Amino acid sequence: MEIALGLEFLRVVEQAAIAAARTMGLGDRHKADDVAVEAMRRVMDTVPMDGTIVIGEGERDEAPMLYIGEKVGAAVHNHRDYPSVDIAVDPLEGTNLCATGSPNAIAVLAASEKGGLLHAPDLYMEKIIVGPSCKGAVELDAPVADNLQAIARRLDRPVSGLVVIVLDRPRHEKLINDIRSTGARIKLITDGDLSAGISAAVIGTGVHAVMGTGGAPEGVLAAAALRCLNGQILARLVVSKPEHEERLTKMGIKDPKRIYDTDDLAPGKKVIFAATGVTEGNLLKGVRFFGEGIRTQSLIMTLENRQVRFIDTVHLEKRPDVKVRFA
Ligand code: FBP
Repeated sequence: MEIALGLEFLRVVEQAAIAAARTMGLGDRHKADDVAVEAMRRVMDTVPMDGTIVIGEGERDEAPMLYIGEKVGAAVHNHRDYPSVDIAVDPLEGTNLCATGSPNAIAVLAASEKGGLLHAPDLYMEKIIVGPSCKGAVELDAPVADNLQAIARRLDRPVSGLVVIVLDRPRHEKLINDIRSTGARIKLITDGDLSAGISAAVIGTGVHAVMGTGGAPEGVLAAAALRCLNGQILARLVVSKPEHEERLTKMGIKDPKRIYDTDDLAPGKKVIFAATGVTEGNLLKGVRFFGEGIRTQSLIMTLENRQVRFIDTVHLEKRPDVKVRFA
């Protein structure tokens, strides 16, 4: 299932990324998101699966497409016996990044067998993300200095040799000061803690950890990627209002203070993660339009057969004399 569907999902994220990339820099984040959603939804229906959106664009009454609970895939149309798949989507992760032409916007989805992805509500989530070498070395509630020392020990370098990514938000003022006082370096980002989390699990990106509070859906998607990359995310939902608790109860989440590990957020045995770069990024190149076609770069990972593929695709325009350039 994984390999075949992985390549099908490649088409889905590629088309979402291409649609979003056409709006790059137009300053309209809603339009960028809408076109990505529309493209993702359209291609999703050609995938041979009986899919259910478990993390999507919102509840049914607030999202016309890719809403939570929506059935997607070819089974919707031809009722054949396709595999049941749960799907988490973020058709454009980093809507502002795309609208301003800034780096690291991606189109992304994760899939698994039924029940393999936590149905996380659209709340904030406290997170710490590290790569394979630092798995098991950090704790969500440990002092920042202790976590950074543990990471530095595992990576055999001084704390001053670490780079931590943090979303640039007022809520992170103390976290940023705590990191600075250890001597570690910080990369403040305006958006996109999901692609940052993936980078932390890939050697050579120059990112050693991601810390701070971001979206819970992005946390689940990051967990799916980290399962495939052998990294780790520790996370806890931020429940600050009584209505948050009510939502959690409705979703069957009994302990709102629970600390989730990677396997709790994405427990599936068969996990697929697919992302395509929209704007230029640390890990993936952005969509490039040229005279005779479009070039995309994607990351497709499958857990069960342990494959991590970086896929460069040239989408040729339908011209008889089209030429393909190397690189
Ligand atoms: P969007 O793609 O929905 O705009 O989200 C971008 C993002 O930066 C995420 O990467 C991050 O988890 C979240 O928003 C942080 O939320 P906020 O902007 O409210 O701090």
